[in-house]
Amino acid sequence: SIELSLRPESLKQYIGQDKVKENLSIFIQAAKMRNEPLDHVLLYGPPGLGKTTLAAIIANEMGVNFRSTSGPAIERAGDLAAILSSLEPGDVLFIDEVHRLPRSVEEVLYSAMEDFFLDIVIGTGPSARSVKIDLPPFTLVGATTRAGLLTAPLRDRFGVLSRLEFYEAKDLCAIVERTAEIFHTTITKEGAIEVARRSRGTPRIANRLLKRIRDISQVKGEEEISLETTDQALGMLQVDDAGLDHIDHKLLKGIIDGFQGGPVGLDTIAATIGEEPQTIEDVYEPYLLQIGFIQRTPRGRIVTAKAYQHFGITKHEE
Ligand code: ADE
Repeated sequence: SIELSLRPESLKQYIGQDKVKENLSIFIQAAKMRNEPLDHVLLYGPPGLGKTTLAAIIANEMGVNFRSTSGPAIERAGDLAAILSSLEPGDVLFIDEVHRLPRSVEEVLYSAMEDFFLDIVIGTGPSARSVKIDLPPFTLVGATTRAGLLTAPLRDRFGVLSRLEFYEAKDLCAIVERTAEIFHTTITKEGAIEVARRSRGTPRIANRLLKRIRDISQVKGEEEISLETTDQALGMLQVDDAGLDHIDHKLLKGIIDGFQGGPVGLDTIAATIGEEPQTIEDVYEPYLLQIGFIQRTPRGRIVTAKAYQHFGITKHEE
């Protein structure tokens, strides 16, 4: 599918995240020289920055199979046993949302990661038996929004910890141009810069916006996507000049109008605007913190003078 072909397949094709790429490329090279599987890797950071893509690239670069699942999908130790025992030596197993593994599954994962065996109890009561199953050596690539969501024993078993950052505008711009090419369309430099500037540092958002902008440009019969059409489309999509969407606005305005700019606790603001606290914390807050529109204090979240300015209002600090 076009969605899959958007994903880069090698570290060389992967744009941005230079520090993460530089480290991974050395660890991959060394593991290959030693003919060993790569050490387990934890990728963490806000959604949409390319954790799944990187995991698939790691498998590709190692020349092994890529198997993919998620924390909540593995309900019982037996599910994990089935997956792990079907791996070929050196394979990459990607577990998205690895912080949401059931505790009982997590506990059998420890020995699998450390020494490549499973210790599983079969049956219940007096007939219960503990069996040891040897596993092929493998690489676990875990993904989570925040490393702090993992229990310490699980986090300690990853040899490589890589934090993905929001993308710089120049990298997002290159991603937009690359995606346009895959779509067999062209976007002007100014158009690409505008999409990059208004995508919250996030390739998934930039690529999604580009699709809708392309629709509008196509209906208008443009030869290439202009800045004017880009701006018009982003307006229609309720993406403001700073790249903030309807929910960012609801969050900021909720704190400004309901709590005089804060401080207000996460659960209170979540209830007020009708979003899940975890979604606010994982999806919306990281970028608003990064651009300095909100701050976290011991007494809760506050909206900054910079954010007030964005809405054309003055913050009266007491
Ligand atoms: N598409 C989405 N993210 C990308 C990235 N980091 N590099 C290249 N293409 C991408």
